[in-house]
Amino acid sequence: MTKSVKNYDVVVLGAGAAGLFCAIEAGKRGRKVAVIDHAKRLGGKILMSGGGRCNFTNMYASHENFLSQNPHFCKSALSRYTQWDFIGLVSDYGIAYHEKTLGQLFCDDTAKDIVDMLLSECKKAKVEIINRCDFISVDAREIGYEVEVATGTLHCESFVVATGGLSMPKLGASPIGYRIAEQFGLDIVPTKAALVPFTLHDTDKAVLSTLSGVSADASASCNNTSFSENILFTHRGLSGPAVLQISSFWVPGNDVCFDLFPKGDLQAELASAKLNQPDALLSTVLSAHYSKRLVQTLLPYFKIDNKPLKQYNDNALKQVAQAFSQWHIKPNGTEGYRTAEVTLGGVNTDHLSSKTMECKTQAGLYFIGEVMDVTGWLGGYNFQWAWSSGWCAGQVV
Ligand code: FDA
Repeated sequence: MTKSVKNYDVVVLGAGAAGLFCAIEAGKRGRKVAVIDHAKRLGGKILMSGGGRCNFTNMYASHENFLSQNPHFCKSALSRYTQWDFIGLVSDYGIAYHEKTLGQLFCDDTAKDIVDMLLSECKKAKVEIINRCDFISVDAREIGYEVEVATGTLHCESFVVATGGLSMPKLGASPIGYRIAEQFGLDIVPTKAALVPFTLHDTDKAVLSTLSGVSADASASCNNTSFSENILFTHRGLSGPAVLQISSFWVPGNDVCFDLFPKGDLQAELASAKLNQPDALLSTVLSAHYSKRLVQTLLPYFKIDNKPLKQYNDNALKQVAQAFSQWHIKPNGTEGYRTAEVTLGGVNTDHLSSKTMECKTQAGLYFIGEVMDVTGWLGGYNFQWAWSSGWCAGQVV
């Protein structure tokens, strides 16, 4: 079979959120665009996201919700294509959505609405999507790029790398974006699984895994950063929004501190309970705030006796309160890229224009989305980065 040679203005590698959005914008400008992806299913990550409802942006998105070696890099793109622009597009398509919490916007029905919207926009902009297609290589030509894929050769003026991070290899993630960056002399900020559950050391796991499925309100703190949301005990360790958020700030060997009574003063609560119901067991009083299973497991884990409240002096009550509100635990590690929502680190933004995402030393080469060293918190920020960075590149490629 003879391999074909095709000419495009723009070739985008990766048909995820960022790649499709860039392709749409470039196509709308009349550019001839092809998007290549090796995945069988288009928009796999979007379909899985937000528990199938896609947390597609956050009403309060700002540069402060992102981690990067250069915290200023994302400002320009986020202000040029904002959450309100994307919300406008979603509304134009009549996609119903709601705020779940903390500004996080989710589809009312299904994440497929977002994928269908992107594919419909691609169609309108005459974007050619070539999926189930293996990428082989890219080389700079005198003008533009020569891209080898399994089915042939693509020539283009602009080559956009939108291959995402390393999270969830089963959804198509690969390190190819980093390899391409290195090929053109760009360095990579070391990568790490982020927004990821913690695994525990055996002694902690033996006790805490019995709580699998139990959740609690908590604030999680590490390295001068705190998040107050929910934590979830799992059979492997700890998960839930507060844990996923703090995992991005955690360094192996660090303790994480959980306040399991984040909205009040547990010591004062216990003191007043002691006055009003001195014969009540500590576990009974705590069970007004936590599930019974949690209390029955955590009291022995924290080495606290379960006695009538009148048998505790002030200092003992203080210790009980501290055990619950300043619970320090050293995770064993994380579940890694297998379950991580994102990848911290990536293509060093020093090499890229914050306005266009073009490589400063290699004209016509662009990096957008999660492949770059820009990582959002949990809550719709990572998709907003994909839309904003993809949009910016789409104006110029
Ligand atoms: P993305 O990973 O989406 O796309 C990269 C594309 O490149 C993929 O289609 C892949 O197949 C392709 N590719 C990779 N290597 C290739 C190769 N060698 N050859 C050809 N193609 C290749 N964020 C958020 O804001 N709200 C949310 O609700 C969620 N929920 C969520 C759930 C789960 C389970 C995950 C894993 C992640 C999230 N996220 C999220 C994060 C969000 O999905 C992510 O940040 C964006 O999808 C990143 O968009 P990109 O387009 O940069 O990469």
